[in-house]
Amino acid sequence: MENQWLELSSNFGLIATCVLTFNLFLGMLLSSAYKRSPIWKKLPPLIKRVSLDDLHNWTAYVALGLVLGHMLFLLPDASLKYKPLDLFFPVNAPHQVFWTILGALAFYALLAVIITTQKKVKSRLGFRLWKNIHLVSYGTALLFVVHGVVMDPLLKDRPVDWFDAEKVLSELCGLALIGATIIRYRHFRRRGQGAVA
Ligand code: HEM
Repeated sequence: MENQWLELSSNFGLIATCVLTFNLFLGMLLSSAYKRSPIWKKLPPLIKRVSLDDLHNWTAYVALGLVLGHMLFLLPDASLKYKPLDLFFPVNAPHQVFWTILGALAFYALLAVIITTQKKVKSRLGFRLWKNIHLVSYGTALLFVVHGVVMDPLLKDRPVDWFDAEKVLSELCGLALIGATIIRYRHFRRRGQGAVA
């Protein structure tokens, strides 16, 4: 890739996709009574000592930082033609407006989930509303996976190259998320009640 800023942006977007995927897995585990699972019980004590709660929180912050980097690295090179407004409100973005808007929506949804999880905000919202906002993350996953697959990393508005290594990475994250969501949903159904806690 000839442009270093664009390459950095691209790499940050890809790492953010992987970190967010991992973060969503952790969220699904946390809401599935994972400690009672026979697989968890068999894991080495070193792994069982890790707080999944903390890991879930921190991966969200790391992902937010990566996404901000992904966006901001589009600015230093004037030839890319991105203005600060295009990052946060991309209706006039220089390339692939619709698919960029999906990325921006994913960014705002991630921000909303992080803000509403701050202790003071969370206690004011109450559990049910906080949880409903948190569940938006399944939609967020769909948004960032589609955005990551369709965006042209060279910004030349080319059609998707489904077998390009970077695209395969986003596609695998998407497939893994679909699989994990199905397992999570089955678990919810088996419990046979409305509480998604
Ligand atoms: C949760 C939020 C986001 C994630 C996870 C994400 C992830 C990605 C991924 C994986 C790619 C493809 C990289 C490749 O194939 O090499 C990409 C491309 C792109 N994204 Fe995002 N993105 C997000 C938000 C945004 C936002 C808010 C913008 C606003 C401008 C944006 C602009 C772009 C652009 C211009 C490209 C093509 C150039 C490049 O590859 O850097 N993204 N994004």
